[in-house]
Parts: sequence; C-alpha cells; structure tokens
Amino acid sequence: MDLIQVDHYDEMSARASQFIINKIRATNKFVLGLATGSTPEGIYRILREKNKNGVFSFQNVTTFNLDEYVGLSEEDSNSYRYYMNDKLFNHVDISKDQTFIPNGNAADLKAECQRYDERIERVGGIDLQVLGLGMNGHIGFNEPGTSFHSKTQIVDLTTSTRKANARFFATMEDVPKQAITMGVATIMQSKEILLLVSGDQKADALERLFNGKVSNDFPASRLKEHPKVTVIADQKATHCV
Ligand code: GLP
Repeated sequence: MDLIQVDHYDEMSARASQFIINKIRATNKFVLGLATGSTPEGIYRILREKNKNGVFSFQNVTTFNLDEYVGLSEEDSNSYRYYMNDKLFNHVDISKDQTFIPNGNAADLKAECQRYDERIERVGGIDLQVLGLGMNGHIGFNEPGTSFHSKTQIVDLTTSTRKANARFFATMEDVPKQAITMGVATIMQSKEILLLVSGDQKADALERLFNGKVSNDFPASRLKEHPKVTVIADQKATHCV
C-alpha cells in the first residue's frame, strides 16, 4: 500500500479528486467504484466543480457504489442513492443508467446481490474503487468477522457502526439494522483501490491497518494483499502510523 500523507481534509479531497480525474481522462471507458459517508464529501464537491468547468466529463464513466441500507427508499434522505444524487449525480453530466447502487428495497435481496455482481462483471470489473474506513476496520459495510471470500451480500450492521452513522438519523432506532454491501472479494477484484482516511477518530484504525496483521477481525487489513492500493490520509489520522 502506498501512503500519501497530507496536512488536512481539504488537501486529501484535492489530491484524491485529482487522482480520480487523471484516471478518467486517461481512458475512453472507466468504471469507478464510489463510497458514501462524510469522508468523500469534499471529493464530490471538487468533482462537481471541475465537471461544471469542463475539466473532465463523466460521459464515459460507469459508477458502482459500495453499499446501501436495507429498507430505505431512493427518496429517503438517508439512503445512499439519495446521498449520491444530492452530492454528485444531479450536478454532473452523468445519466441514471450510468450509475449503479444496490437496491436495498428489492423484493428479493439475495437476487439483487447476485445481479449487482453480474452487472459489475458485465462491464469488465471496477477500474478504481474509492473506499472510506470504518472505525472498526469495516470497508463498505463489511463488518469484523466477514469472510474474505464474500461477494455482494446482505449484512447485519454492528451496534458500533449504527452508532457511528446515527448522526445522520433522527433517532438511533431509525438507523437500519441491515445493508447490502459489495463483499471483501468484490472489492479486492477492483483493479485499483483508493482508500481515504481523515480525522483523529480514524487514527487507531489506520495504525492497525498499517501495523496489524491481516485478519477478518479487521476487514480493511485484507487490502494489504491487493497489488495496487493508494491511501491518502491527513495528519490527524496518520499521527500514530
Ligand atoms: C460507513 C459506510 C462506508 C464508509 C464508512 C466510513 O458506514 N458504509 O462506506 O466508508 O462507514 O464513513 P465516514 O466516511 O462517514 O467516516
């Protein structure tokens, strides 16, 4: 894993968005894996601006999001489809048929997971997957104990993840208990990975990622076995590494 240390969140967002834009511009067909949460919000702001200014286009880009809550509709402001529309898709030159997010409201969730993996395969796999890091080492919604062989799957969220995400919901009870997430194996099949880590609250997780062993107790550790991972992290997150 290559580590790029930057001073602060804004610099992380600037470096990461430039990284993504360079890749998109270098080819005429690009498959981009996207993440949600607070970490990539700055990147989406920059991508919106640069797209508007004509620096690059999403015309030849297909996107696949990592995960989605089970049971929230697309119109629910806490669904990841809503987040992506609001933070990026509604503001750039991308159409809905270029963007994929698991449907957490599908009648048959298991079939939806399989369909999602098939769609990724059909476009030739993900060229670059953007990832955030959960405080307990989760990637996507793959919680500690998850199998490294898992493809897109339905998962139960841990209390700690539900608590960490409760800030977006009115009450803790409103936080869904399940999600659909690309599995660790799906993520590992991406040709390249960009992991973004910012803030004090992620420092222990980043330290464990770099200095700990590979174990499914800490799902992100599996990334150490991927041939092409770049980590961009700010000073607050890297002070223990
Ligand atoms: C969430 C999401 C992940 C995200 C991670 C970190 O639960 N499912 O995709 O990367 O946790 O979130 P944040 O960036 O808000 O810290």
